[in-house]
Amino acid sequence: MLAEMLVWAGTQASKPARQLGYARAAVSLWSRRRRWARDWAEHETNTRDFALKTVAACRRRDTVWLLGGGTLSDLPLAELSKLFRRVVVFDIAWLPQAQAAGRRWSNVELKLADVTGVVQPLSEWRLGMPLPIPPVDAMTDLDPVPPDCVLSLNLLSQLPLLPMEYVQRQGMTVQAAESFGRAILQAHLQGLQDFACPVGLIADARRIWRSRAGEVVLSESAVLGVKLPPPERSWRWPVAPRGEIDNETGLEITVEASRLNASTDG
Ligand SMILES: C[S@@+](CC[C@H](N)C(=O)[O-])C[C@H]1O[C@@H](n2cnc3c(N)ncnc32)[C@H](O)[C@@H]1O
Repeated sequence: MLAEMLVWAGTQASKPARQLGYARAAVSLWSRRRRWARDWAEHETNTRDFALKTVAACRRRDTVWLLGGGTLSDLPLAELSKLFRRVVVFDIAWLPQAQAAGRRWSNVELKLADVTGVVQPLSEWRLGMPLPIPPVDAMTDLDPVPPDCVLSLNLLSQLPLLPMEYVQRQGMTVQAAESFGRAILQAHLQGLQDFACPVGLIADARRIWRSRAGEVVLSESAVLGVKLPPPERSWRWPVAPRGEIDNETGLEITVEASRLNASTDG
């Protein structure tokens, strides 16, 4: 608990992001990963491998963008820092551990950014006001240098979660919050599609709850039913083995990896 408070205090996030709970969520991700590092290892290796497969298709290798840095554990930073002149990693909250790890490479930059463009306007939003419309071009201005490759890594399903929680805390119905969540997901997918370079998307597709006996108790879309691009690869990520959420059920994610704009090469 004390360790988590120290990590929270050292986490970098804007005031609106803190207000919506992103610093807290970053600490929670860090502590879950510490508890389940061994169970998450295969998923992280698969993510790194697919990221490298995506960059292999990029002929121009000046700048690569990584969206959703988190703990940095699933990013092949050592390899990317050799392949590209600049590696720019975006996240809405930076853990002190990630800030320290990022300093290992002189051409890796960790940037604080909201890739949805809704967090700041939402922090001033109150029930009865029109909701901010998630801008499709929220990612184009993240950095002045356009990227030669973009990787969205285990981020998509997370994008609507805190905005949806926030609007519900302000009194919005679940249905209205979910339709706002879908608009956030669709804007991110469209934004990725609009890049004029190869894009790798690794995203949670389904959440599957399993009993002690391994039977499926519940299986639901991790992206509010939004259609994902056809996957090239798919794997299981035991994100919360039994004991994390409760002693009887474990939660696993079906992860899908796809490449967009594969014919473009920056
Ligand atoms: C499940 S984590 C995956 C992160 C990383 N790839 C890892 O495994 O540690 C999702 C990440 O998305 C970030 N995130 C959530 N919403 C975001 C937003 N609106 N803009 C930028 N990053 C966001 C979170 O801070 C978190 O680090």
